Amino acid sequence: MNSEVTRRAIRTVVSLVITAALLGALALWRPSGLYLWLKAVHVVAVIAWMAGMLYLPRLFVYHCDAEAGSKQSETFKVMERRLLTVIINPAMIVAWVLGLWLAYDGGWLSAPWLYAKLALVVALSGLHGFYARWTAAFGADRNPHSQKFYRIINEVPTILMIGIVILVIVKPF
Ligand code: HEM
Repeated sequence: MNSEVTRRAIRTVVSLVITAALLGALALWRPSGLYLWLKAVHVVAVIAWMAGMLYLPRLFVYHCDAEAGSKQSETFKVMERRLLTVIINPAMIVAWVLGLWLAYDGGWLSAPWLYAKLALVVALSGLHGFYARWTAAFGADRNPHSQKFYRIINEVPTILMIGIVILVIVKPF
């Protein structure tokens, strides 16, 4: 178990270093059309982040029905942990880094819509933090909430996403 944790930590550090090196090289090189490439990768990261943010609470809903210690419950634990650590966490980091880069590079830092968008994205990131906490709780067989709670929570990222997309595309102010 400990060697598995160490292996995972090493993998995370190595991928973070490689990503930082690639981003640093791009920032120095600044090829033409960089802004649009950054935006494309930003949108891909956002899609992956949102897919996970919409799917994880569905897993929590089904997990509530599985008896602690059952084979089904153990399978949900693996699915939840992998979804969080392999998809949702890295996608959120890439979305944030590239989003802030676009904001700076595109000269959007004085645009009011950006700050409204950031407020909603901070709320989304806070929800992400709660997801991490609930994944850990399920992992220790001590789920703190009802199935109904997770069904309601499932709607929150959808509402935030609609607001975020309208703000960045319509730019109403
Ligand atoms: C994490 C913090 C984020 C920051 C700082 C950020 C910032 C930005 C910026 C500055 C742009 C470029 C706007 C333009 O060129 O017109 C952009 C594009 C975009 N962002 Fe984000 N963003 C973030 C997260 C998100 C999230 C969570 C979503 C969706 C749920 C999202 C959806 C989009 C979309 C769809 C575009 C493309 C808009 C277009 O080309 O018209 N972003 N973002």
